[in-house]
Amino acid sequence: MLDAGLLPGKTVLEIGSGTGTNAIEFARRGYRVTAVDLVDLAVQRAREKARRAGVEIDFRIGDATRMRLGGPYDVVFDRGVYHGIRGRNLPAFLRMLERVTRRGTRWLCLAGNAKEPMEDGPPVVSEEEFRAELGPLFKFIEVREFRFTLDRDDFRPLAWSILMERR
Ligand SMILES: C[S@@+](CC[C@H](N)C(=O)[O-])C[C@H]1O[C@@H](n2cnc3c(N)ncnc32)[C@H](O)[C@@H]1O
Repeated sequence: MLDAGLLPGKTVLEIGSGTGTNAIEFARRGYRVTAVDLVDLAVQRAREKARRAGVEIDFRIGDATRMRLGGPYDVVFDRGVYHGIRGRNLPAFLRMLERVTRRGTRWLCLAGNAKEPMEDGPPVVSEEEFRAELGPLFKFIEVREFRFTLDRDDFRPLAWSILMERR
């Protein structure tokens, strides 16, 4: 996505940045990155990794749906937040997205794919569901299927790569 220039702009918000792998990659490529995660320890690790990588990232700790996160950003990224939160608090998640985006903001969302639910895999969503839930606020630029690459070679759940643009 990055190499193809599909995420244009200067500022990125990563929602649910975990230990910072993606936020660091965005920062390495020259974006100004804000990254938020619920888990204190994950953010501590991310800060340490960013320091070692020599990049500056504005890390925040807390529930993204309940914080002031600034913006609007040019790009929003999440890997595995939408697919989990949609079953618990989709309205608050969408309100947060409305606050941190503007017309033209691109959101790349990576989510588990309901075509292959796995017992110990990530939460999953169907194409019909994400189009209905996200379509009112975003248009769909590119929808692709891929497999999450995880530590174990034998555990690569089917996923969606959903590239959207704010209406
Ligand atoms: C599947 S992990 C992905 C971590 C990282 N983005 C990556 O690709 O390795 C999802 C992350 O989202 C965080 N998260 C879930 N809900 C959140 C919320 N409401 N606000 C902030 N972070 C959240 C979790 O703590 C977790 O670290």
